[in-house]
Amino acid sequence: MSNDCYRPKYHFTPEQQWMNDPNGLVYFQGEYHLFYQYYPNGTTWGPMHWGHAISKDLTSWEHMPIALEPDEHGYIFSGSAVVDWHDTSGFFGGEAGLVAIFTHHKNAGENGAVRERQSLAYSSDAGRTWIKYSGNPVLADDRFPDFRDPKVFWHAASERWIMVLASGQTVSIYHSPNLKEWTFASQFGEGEGAHIGVWECPDLFELPVDGDPSHTKWVMLVSIGNAPEYPEGSRTQYFIGQFDGSVFQNESAPESVKWLDGGRDNYAGVSWSDIPAADGRRIYIGWMSNWKYAQVTPTESWRSAMTLPRTLALRSREGRTLLAQLPVRELDQWKKDTRQWQDLLVEPGANPLSELALTSFMLEAEFELQTAAEFGFKVRASDAYETVVGYIAETQELFVDRSRSGNTDFHADFSGSHAVKAEALNGSLTLRIWVDSCSVEVFAGEGEAVITDLLFPAEEQSGLAVYAKHGTVKLTSLRISSLFA
Ligand code: FRU
Repeated sequence: MSNDCYRPKYHFTPEQQWMNDPNGLVYFQGEYHLFYQYYPNGTTWGPMHWGHAISKDLTSWEHMPIALEPDEHGYIFSGSAVVDWHDTSGFFGGEAGLVAIFTHHKNAGENGAVRERQSLAYSSDAGRTWIKYSGNPVLADDRFPDFRDPKVFWHAASERWIMVLASGQTVSIYHSPNLKEWTFASQFGEGEGAHIGVWECPDLFELPVDGDPSHTKWVMLVSIGNAPEYPEGSRTQYFIGQFDGSVFQNESAPESVKWLDGGRDNYAGVSWSDIPAADGRRIYIGWMSNWKYAQVTPTESWRSAMTLPRTLALRSREGRTLLAQLPVRELDQWKKDTRQWQDLLVEPGANPLSELALTSFMLEAEFELQTAAEFGFKVRASDAYETVVGYIAETQELFVDRSRSGNTDFHADFSGSHAVKAEALNGSLTLRIWVDSCSVEVFAGEGEAVITDLLFPAEEQSGLAVYAKHGTVKLTSLRISSLFA
């Protein structure tokens, strides 16, 4: 393909055709499963299937046959998968097996109204083949036209399955002993957080605060669909609070809104189920696109990539609890040709990195703030183009400016600059920047501030610069590694 220069080297993409949300994330018998919303007959959204890939290390993926296809109940929309360890469902003759819980979406009403119901499929061969449950759908409530994206987990304390489900602009919570019969428990979201579009793809999980297992909180993720009047398009918010097996209690003021990502291209992300307790991580992946322009991005034979898989953590900062994200450590095995610098003084007009040419790489920088009003990096740069990853000292704002990043004119809302607050602790700032063929992901501090943005640079845009404006900044350490899988 003429423009396969945009095909990522170390991010997941479908081999061909259209992909959106990650689905059915589950770990079983040494394998990470990644299912995804897939349309096998085109590079734009269409009747949804579940595509499938498997990895042993979250970084190299083997493409598998399509797992679920549309049927008489409708398209296969987003959902989750769990290991039914004790065969509560009765699908597995007493053994453990995989159960997928997903939305059947159908244009069913007399005047074409949409109907969304929850259904099951199960696999006795570690995800290779799937059988749809004969009793589908298992959960219907036709009061809600938008009633989808079930995320299910085993709640040990109440010894039952919990489902969080997007219902209009709220999340409905259900419980079940066997994945087949569901009882309504509570509804969350009325008057809480952002309501600028339909709620989608919820997730709910418990995490230790600052790594202390005796002090935990619950995190609810809620993606918000693209509302045409907002230039940001689709984005994901999160809530922090407590969950008792029935009710989620948000600990923040109802009107406060916390965004998972300061960039434009991290949507519909959820976390893996059944990661062994000995590992203990909560690992997340998102769809690296935005409904605003997802269907017109300039790729040809395939469309859309996932974000890097990220480990989630709760960190307290000045009385607040923040959800932090950092790429999984498994990615480190792909780092090559690592170069290192120490105590580099960065001055206006000089670029000590001008000799480098890099298109897929990661860098880790620690800055000591001095007099510079703004500093940072320019990645995927050439004479005419650059993507700026910068920091404004006065406002403590991290930003990615992709206005001159390469091909930006395929959609009016693509170009632009996106910022997020990132505190410099004791006058120093750590930035980890992961660049691939069509993306940049920036993690500040220990991942408390993140920007994920798509870019469509030409292959020859391989320059890298570190810069400072109106003063100097000290780069106390810098490590740059090439990356390819
Ligand atoms: C989110 C979403 C989900 C839905 C799926 C359909 O991007 O709209 O709510 O299940 O995509 O493909």
